[in-house]
Amino acid sequence: MRVAIIYDSHTGTTRAAAEAMGQHLRELGNEVHIDSVVDADPTVVSQADLICVGSWTQGLFVILQHATKATMQFIERLGDLAGKKAIVFCTYKLATGSLLPTMAQALRAKGAEVVGEYKFRGPAPTQDFQSYAASGLSSA
Ligand SMILES: Cc1cc2nc3c(=O)[nH]c(=O)nc-3n(C[C@H](O)[C@H](O)[C@H](O)COP(=O)(O)O)c2cc1C
Repeated sequence: MRVAIIYDSHTGTTRAAAEAMGQHLRELGNEVHIDSVVDADPTVVSQADLICVGSWTQGLFVILQHATKATMQFIERLGDLAGKKAIVFCTYKLATGSLLPTMAQALRAKGAEVVGEYKFRGPAPTQDFQSYAASGLSSA
């Protein structure tokens, strides 16, 4: 199965989470492409079977949290995702508010079926996070 993992990362946490997810999915035998929202080609990403989009949490820590502008702009540039599965994820410190539902809704508006929303905090991606990626895939 082809999996595209796209992330926006300011200081590396979200990139590390994306890479941990990707490594685990590769070990399960999938073809995984990981790119930042800056480098990823939306046309290529739109062709994956499972599309995972992750952002760091931007806001005022306890209120007004949102995905980064670059993340939302990348989702806007995706093509028709009818028949595709998607996962949204974010890294954060305190609270994520409506960040994940908003990202999920933007992907649904493209036609994707969102099969998972996951938030992660801490210095390194956990086993839970990795198995979450796999569970998203098994429903794809
Ligand atoms: C300007 C700025 C605003 C932030 N706002 C929030 C916030 O509203 N809520 C929160 O939980 N974390 C917030 N954070 C913390 C980051 O989302 C968190 O550290 C994230 O894991 C960073 O990911 P990165 O290393 O991939 O950039 C903020 C960080 C910065 C620099």
